[in-house]
Amino acid sequence: MKRILTYGTYDLLHYGHIRLLKRAKELGDYLIVAVSSDEFNAEKGKRAYHNFETRKEMLEAIRYVDLVIPESTWDQKRDDVSRYEVDVVVMGGDWEGDPRFECLRDCCDVVYLDRTPGVSTSQIKEELNLTTGDTGNLFRH
Ligand code: CTP
Repeated sequence: MKRILTYGTYDLLHYGHIRLLKRAKELGDYLIVAVSSDEFNAEKGKRAYHNFETRKEMLEAIRYVDLVIPESTWDQKRDDVSRYEVDVVVMGGDWEGDPRFECLRDCCDVVYLDRTPGVSTSQIKEELNLTTGDTGNLFRH
């Protein structure tokens, strides 16, 4: 049983998230998603539209995801790898080379997957703000 672990906020779930999770699952047999808690997001200066429980519930409904756990600190990764017997930590390419993931190479593999171009939660938020009252740009994706 090869176990994969990935981290993220996963707010306003979009097809970039789904494709990342599908490819992550294809690297093994069991996919764990560590989702940023609301408190951890606040610490990072981020505020999700959906709260932790809702983001967790949506991720649990995705067929590629086997388990959702909270991400509450920057330092929990090594513990997670050992507790859940993780073989591979996977992140989107925006994290490539980040020391917070590179430092795990002595306890598991670390793999970065290309991001899906043209979509992100922050972009959706911005575009919906811009298009309030004007449906011209909606239903693009
Ligand atoms: N991701 C991806 N392709 C995208 C957007 C996200 O592969 N177009 C991946 C990220 O690299 C990460 C995971 O999805 O591994 C969760 O990313 P998250 O930061 O929650 O989503 P973003 O859409 O990048 O959110 P934001 O704009 O707030 O940074």
